[in-house]
Amino acid sequence: MASLRSASRLTTPARSLFRPAVRTYATISESGAPTAPTRNLVPPEETKTVKEPAPSKDAKIKTFHIYRWNPDEPASKPRMQTYTLDLNKTGPMVLDALIRIKNEVDPTLTFRRSCREGICGSCAMNIDGINTLACLCRIPTDTAKESRVYPLPHTYVVKDLVPDLTHFYKQYKSIKPYLQRDTKPEDGRENRQSRDDRKKLDGLYECILCACCSTSCPSYWWNSEQYLGPAMLLQSYRWLADSRDERKAERKEALENSMSLYRCHTILNCSRTCPKGLNPAKAIAEIKKSMAIGSSM
Ligand code: SF4
Ligand code: SF4
Ligand code: FES
Repeated sequence: MASLRSASRLTTPARSLFRPAVRTYATISESGAPTAPTRNLVPPEETKTVKEPAPSKDAKIKTFHIYRWNPDEPASKPRMQTYTLDLNKTGPMVLDALIRIKNEVDPTLTFRRSCREGICGSCAMNIDGINTLACLCRIPTDTAKESRVYPLPHTYVVKDLVPDLTHFYKQYKSIKPYLQRDTKPEDGRENRQSRDDRKKLDGLYECILCACCSTSCPSYWWNSEQYLGPAMLLQSYRWLADSRDERKAERKEALENSMSLYRCHTILNCSRTCPKGLNPAKAIAEIKKSMAIGSSM
């Protein structure tokens, strides 16, 4: 299967530091090995507009430009496909628009979704410059403004809006995201903690691993092989902050190198973009603080 690396650095003027600039894409040879990535300095071409199939009488026509790339045509460059939809016939969220395109306009459009209520994290993508969840993102009702939808920046793309998160989940596995403890509770019941200790997990356990934060982080774009990125560091802190865990020293030791943690330069894109309102940068700062003062948390 071919894959593609989208190197777009996409953010809105309000939030962003960069404009889309470079796309790098790699194909997989018949042997299955990736060929050398090639660079495409030209933004994806726009292709013919696919129009709303049945506009209503007082139609509110909105234009969407959507990133397309087909792994079955590895020689083809990524392109932008333009669709128009009547907002009177479309649900309020960007995911509703994508589902309507897929169901009624163009069944070849590919994207991930499951819960449609901000719980599964599968519909993460870059909409109008912001990494967010399509199911939580309202379609801007100003029809004069056109919307642009891309896969998460700096990810290999499986197809269209579907990023390859294999490496992201490998990194998740590497932080041992589970309770590590040898001591059994004396009463033989579950591992309990005080209300105050439980409170320390608020703002951490809610992370749905959507990858919006990590794929908005410049440090992660350039060092994702070694730098864990904001999502994984927030997850690391979730276990470091858990009063029941007995492997805090080992967890910290695993982060004690120049790349895993210290590639965070406090740029804060991660906290600005999190669609769940979490603050990965604060979690990272807490880890750094505890490493610096040698606290046990
Ligand atoms: S911290 Fe927020 S943006 Fe990052 S993976 Fe978790 S839910 Fe997604
Ligand atoms: S604060 Fe750290 S993790 Fe967050 S975007 Fe900046 S460098 Fe990345
Ligand atoms: S579909 Fe589950 S978070 Fe959007």
